[in-house]
Amino acid sequence: MLKVENLKVKFNNTEVVRGVTFTLKHGEILSVLGESGSGKSVTAMSIMKLYGEKQAHISADCISLDDIDILSSSEADMQKVRGVQIAYIFQNPNDALSPNKTIRAQFKELFKVHSRTYNEQNVKSLLETVGLQVESEYILNMYPHQLSGGQAQRVTIALAISLEPKVIIADEPTSSIDASLTDVIVELLLSINKKLGISILFITHDFDLASKISDEILILYGGLVMEYGGKDVIFSAPQHPYTQELMKCVNSIHSREGLLYTLSGYALDPSEFKSECPFWYRCSLSENICKLEIPLLVEKGINGTHQVRCIRAVEVEDDVQS
Ligand SMILES: Nc1ncnc2c1ncn2[C@@H]1O[C@H](COP(=O)(O)OP(=O)(O)OP(=O)(O)O)[C@@H](O)[C@H]1O
Ligand SMILES: [Mg+2]
Repeated sequence: MLKVENLKVKFNNTEVVRGVTFTLKHGEILSVLGESGSGKSVTAMSIMKLYGEKQAHISADCISLDDIDILSSSEADMQKVRGVQIAYIFQNPNDALSPNKTIRAQFKELFKVHSRTYNEQNVKSLLETVGLQVESEYILNMYPHQLSGGQAQRVTIALAISLEPKVIIADEPTSSIDASLTDVIVELLLSINKKLGISILFITHDFDLASKISDEILILYGGLVMEYGGKDVIFSAPQHPYTQELMKCVNSIHSREGLLYTLSGYALDPSEFKSECPFWYRCSLSENICKLEIPLLVEKGINGTHQVRCIRAVEVEDDVQS
């Protein structure tokens, strides 16, 4: 399992991720939800150590994948982890593809870097897995700019699974492609999860999608975990006012009645973070105590299966078990 404990990330002394803890279990899908700027991508990129030492200061009590201690891995070690143990699918497929190399050359390079033998037939069957069987020869000869957004994202998924990683981090993998292809890419990721047993850390803004595909949900806000637990408990009995407000927005879209419900106010910039609940400014239930310190993450379910960072959560019992 991928285990992250107390991850903190600073850019130029501004802390943007403030102690994030979660585990992604074998074969499961954990969706990370939260508004723009809540720290989803920074969390994911830090797990992969994609920031240079001078760019970000990363600390944690633990970042590990099974018996691999990622936290203390050197850059040389990380090159054996990235792609091989954990693969990253970016929001924009062009961030993952070299613009001046054909797709064939990109597969060849990936295999060479990891001392694996390039076998064109195997690569074609990977392309088949991601739904590009008909045009696989054509795709291999193309440069990234010659592919459609959907084709390019399928190629990055084929590259991501080619070394059979244990975990895929998919950072809003459908947000830069045509809406009609969203279902196709999501189905593809689901089949990879089910057939190949690859665990997925799925970063998204899409609550409906997360409710369909996830085993567990992590709600981030202001660089903090606000709520974390099994899909059922988070979607049917959310306890954090932030999660409840997000649900109201989603339900208002579904009901198609009256005006759309929107969350009032705006999310704080990390430079404005203080030792307080970052949501109190927008929370209709906030009290003075919310402004005095960051609330603790309270364990609700059996064995900490549901965690909520709100003083009110202490008073409310779970009525759904995850
Ligand atoms: N390289 C960087 N240098 C400085 N600040 C950064 C850097 N990358 C991200 N940030 C800041 O960190 C905070 C969290 O950013 P992050 O990209 O993780 O948000 P996110 O939750 O992924 O949002 P979105 O949903 O828009 O992708 C933001 O305030 C962002 O401006
Ligand atoms: Mg992001």
